[in-house]
Amino acid sequence: MARHGNERAVLREDGTVEGTAGAPAAVLLRGARKTYGTGHAEVHALRDVDLEVRRGEFVVLLGPSGSGKTTLLNLIGGIEPPTAGEVIAGGRDISGLGEDGRTAYRRDTVGFVFQFFNLVPSLTALENVRLVAELTGRGDREHAEKALAAVGLAERAGHFPAQLSGGEQQRVAIARAIAKDPALLLCDEPTGALDLETGRGVLRVLQDLNREGRTVLVVTHNAAIAAIAHRTVRMRSGRIVEVTTTEAPATADEVAW
Ligand SMILES: Nc1ncnc2c1ncn2[C@@H]1O[C@H](COP(=O)(O)OP(=O)(O)OP(=O)(O)O)[C@@H](O)[C@H]1O
Ligand SMILES: [Mg+2]
Repeated sequence: MARHGNERAVLREDGTVEGTAGAPAAVLLRGARKTYGTGHAEVHALRDVDLEVRRGEFVVLLGPSGSGKTTLLNLIGGIEPPTAGEVIAGGRDISGLGEDGRTAYRRDTVGFVFQFFNLVPSLTALENVRLVAELTGRGDREHAEKALAAVGLAERAGHFPAQLSGGEQQRVAIARAIAKDPALLLCDEPTGALDLETGRGVLRVLQDLNREGRTVLVVTHNAAIAAIAHRTVRMRSGRIVEVTTTEAPATADEVAW
């Protein structure tokens, strides 16, 4: 990918970013680096990564274990700051933000979906959704019910996680992420714990949300999932080694693994 030296990204008034292609960017990384530890224990999790994700894009990040996929998602999601370089997301430069700034950015801009759902076992599906939505003032019952309906779980609102299948739990986790109306939906192995049929159901929900205009990033080991993405980013040893564009992405129902 092209490098852009010290050139700064241009933030537009409407909060979008004028990226390398001149189109509005949802995410822009320039020379983003993440190094853990020091001296002999130094690990270069990300090495000078440049990446632009356009608004409304569905991007799949592929790569072997340890290649830096989760680290990249964590920088974009404001979970961790980069060691060096720029990370622009949600219309702002988040590279220099401190802990409080990143917390506010995550709360207002990002929906996270993880491999192991992370639902609170003692709360119902609806209560799990409301819990997170409350942080952004969207915790009212009706709004949470809409989010559950969007993932096809309106009927299961009163069920506890233990009463739901794996795919249903993951869909609750997606409902929880979208109830905040986040600009960015970041998913780390969202189908990793699921069988094919259940995984497809989850991908279908993500694809629908993307078609409604949300920007979606999915990290996975599973190359088959790339078929539904607009673009596939392949990582190896902390670097982006290949970016491919899919002209006519498949539907989730056509994916098999
Ligand atoms: N907090 C940390 N401290 C030290 N090293 C870390 C830390 N987090 C990640 N790493 C290292 O950074 C590298 C990239 O890790 P990362 O979790 O991004 O990989 P990944 O591509 O998501 O792998 P997987 O597919 O196994 O989840 C790995 O070598 C990992 O050991
Ligand atoms: Mg990972």
